[in-house]
Amino acid sequence: MPKPGFLKHAMAIPAAGMASTEQQKVPEPLDLKDIIRPVQDHLEGFDRVFRQSIRSQIGLVDLITKYLLKQKGKKVRPILVLLTADLCGGINEKTYRGATLVEILHTATLIHDDVVDEADTRRGLASINAVWKNKIAVLMGDYLLSKGLLLSLDNDDYRFLQVTSRAVKRMSEGEIHQIQKSRKLDMDEATYLRIISDKTASLLSTCCEIGAVSATADEAKHLLMREYGEYVGLAFQVRDDLLDYVGRKSITGKPVGLDLSERKLTLPLIYSLGRAPKGAGKEILGMIRSGGKRMNVRKIVDFVQMYGGLDYATARAREFARMAAERLACFPDSESRRALEGFAAFVVEREK
Ligand code: IPE
Ligand code: IPE
Ligand code: MG
Ligand code: MG
Repeated sequence: MPKPGFLKHAMAIPAAGMASTEQQKVPEPLDLKDIIRPVQDHLEGFDRVFRQSIRSQIGLVDLITKYLLKQKGKKVRPILVLLTADLCGGINEKTYRGATLVEILHTATLIHDDVVDEADTRRGLASINAVWKNKIAVLMGDYLLSKGLLLSLDNDDYRFLQVTSRAVKRMSEGEIHQIQKSRKLDMDEATYLRIISDKTASLLSTCCEIGAVSATADEAKHLLMREYGEYVGLAFQVRDDLLDYVGRKSITGKPVGLDLSERKLTLPLIYSLGRAPKGAGKEILGMIRSGGKRMNVRKIVDFVQMYGGLDYATARAREFARMAAERLACFPDSESRRALEGFAAFVVEREK
């Protein structure tokens, strides 16, 4: 569900004055392999369910699902389902189905996202649209979406369906809202936060809520996990948008500067445009508007760097990570709690 409350809270963070004292409260980041440790065996179990759940009797569909399995993602969403379930009472069969559901939905949305963004690389391999063209990619995304929903329906996981359907609705709205904004090239920070909350944080929040729902009937825990996921999700997308400026394709598996060529104004640039002299900002916007050869990505990255956009976005992501970690404070110390704290910090530092 859209959470204006969250956004109001997020916007109220004293952005310019985000001092180093605040940043120090962010927990130590862990590597993904350490984050996974408490649920390692379950993750292997999830892999089997996932592979099985996306299979099809139609040859081409099955071929594409096999290709999807070669495109290795980080699996942060199933990891979150497993860790939050572990934290809230314990992993069970239902948790596996929840983890499978969210990874299937995530895969579907990435396939559609690459059509929308005209991206030809995903996870270091050619995207589905690059190999099989848009028609097949759109239909393949729909196929996965329905497979995910059927998995829940067939097992009477209605609460999962309720939570995830809301997230899928928000993801579509977020992506369309983003296109609407890119046409006019007018984006402010509040709108940006709304968009990333819808297109990314909604699903991460869902993962954490589903993990909790699979493990306990305690609604206070469901809420804490939902909030943890929302803040971690905001941090995750701010970092993703930073990586579009400062990432390395060989590590992220996706091209640098793609957001600019799609006229997506993200936080680093939004902030720098607000700080730079009018003329300098106009020149950058002009370049983005004309696109193609006139767009000098190097120059835009330098502009963003010069007016503090990279530092600002990093500080903002750290602040969201800190707010996520706060939601864990009332849980007793455990391996999964430490992993979730480490995850919040990992999200901000990640290179892929
Ligand atoms: C990519 O998500 C889409 C965003 C929300 C930024 P991930 O970075 O989790 O993608 P994979 O699954 O690891 O490839
Ligand atoms: C996130 O946005 C996409 C989804 C929520 C599906 P991006 O367009 O930034 O994601 P990447 O960078 O292509 O993974
Ligand atoms: Mg994209
Ligand atoms: Mg991106």
